[in-house]
Amino acid sequence: MSEYLPGLAGVPATKSNISAIDGEKGLLAYRGYPLEELAANSSFEEVTLLLLDGELPTANELKDFDEQLRSNRAVKYNIRELMKSLPITGHPMEMLQTAVASLGMFYPASECLTDGASCEDLQYVHNMTVKIIARMATIVAMWKHIRNGYDPIPPRDDLTYAENFLYMWTGKEPDPLLARILDVCLILHAEHTINASTFAVLVTASTLASPYSVIASAIGTLSGPLHGGANQKVVEMLHEIGEPENVEAYIDARLANKEVIWGMGHREYKTKDPRAPILQSLMMDLMEARGGKMSKLFEVAQVVEEVCEDRLANKGVYANVDFYSGVLYSEMGIPTDQFTTIFAVARSAGWLAHWREQLSDNRIFRPTQVYTGESNRSYIPIDKR
Ligand code: COA
Repeated sequence: MSEYLPGLAGVPATKSNISAIDGEKGLLAYRGYPLEELAANSSFEEVTLLLLDGELPTANELKDFDEQLRSNRAVKYNIRELMKSLPITGHPMEMLQTAVASLGMFYPASECLTDGASCEDLQYVHNMTVKIIARMATIVAMWKHIRNGYDPIPPRDDLTYAENFLYMWTGKEPDPLLARILDVCLILHAEHTINASTFAVLVTASTLASPYSVIASAIGTLSGPLHGGANQKVVEMLHEIGEPENVEAYIDARLANKEVIWGMGHREYKTKDPRAPILQSLMMDLMEARGGKMSKLFEVAQVVEEVCEDRLANKGVYANVDFYSGVLYSEMGIPTDQFTTIFAVARSAGWLAHWREQLSDNRIFRPTQVYTGESNRSYIPIDKR
């Protein structure tokens, strides 16, 4: 029997040509293109098509895909009614998981459940992918209004993916800088090899479940604080610290209590997560556009990073993507409990690329286990226990 490795750390569970990480050098590439180049030059729509198809699209291919996304933004009113019946006390990630799973009831995707034929039909896979990616942002933006007792703002088809999200969120014409910042955030979160939620995608996809079930599994997996939920924890921690001068004592107390510092450390990166400096520089752009006024949260975050570098660099623990993304989303007026839903919107691109890859060479996942329980016991009647 092979050796048991907790968390499957270092165990290859699949083959993939979608993205690659070099954890020692702090590099991430989608389909061979360095993330920094994509963040500087591309858009979420283009990166999504790159992740799905493996190649940068031509202008016409991108235009077609963009039009497909734009024309699939609206959701049936039944989904809106269902969302209205959800308790506002629930976590937005639970809302998102529920709403995405419910899409499977309202839009036909049942072919995958009954026989494998449609799962091998690339057009079917592409159409389902477009429907899900287009509607993820709609659902997240709708929830902002529904949870506050208002009707959601309908999507527009004359705006980019990021612009439309901001429009649906605020009801106002999107600010170009905020739209570009959000676009880059979506690019940075779109894909990240076989992390926990992508592994959930592969396992669910391997049973030929519908893509809505696949993405609902992934959303549930992403919601945990050790994965996508960390950016919410980061901002809560920064608020708790309050002032830059409190940082050192706060961090040292947490470390002495063996508590993690949220937004620090990564299973793959043993240096700074390459996404963190890009977010940090977006934050600088935003500060500059706001007349150089430093946000308190950002100020505290920078000191936390400095102190953590001093205390944790020897363990290969540095700032990860969640460290600055939460700060940026806060500055954009997004409530902390909705941060991870935006992460999920972006990651739906990578998840669906992995769904497609899994279907192209499928074998159901069935790992083994090391049994550590009792054996050969005889049933004891209840009155004898
Ligand atoms: N704060 C304090 N110490 C940390 C730490 C953190 N955020 N992350 C790792 N460490 C320490 C561990 O305690 C361990 O110390 P030890 O060797 O003295 O026991 C050492 O660094 C190695 O960490 P390990 O737990 O083996 O790393 P991992 O790969 O299993 O865990 C994470 C990776 C992401 C789960 C972990 O870093 C973490 O919990 N980070 C905070 C949550 C977070 O930001 N998640 C988002 C990831 S994108």
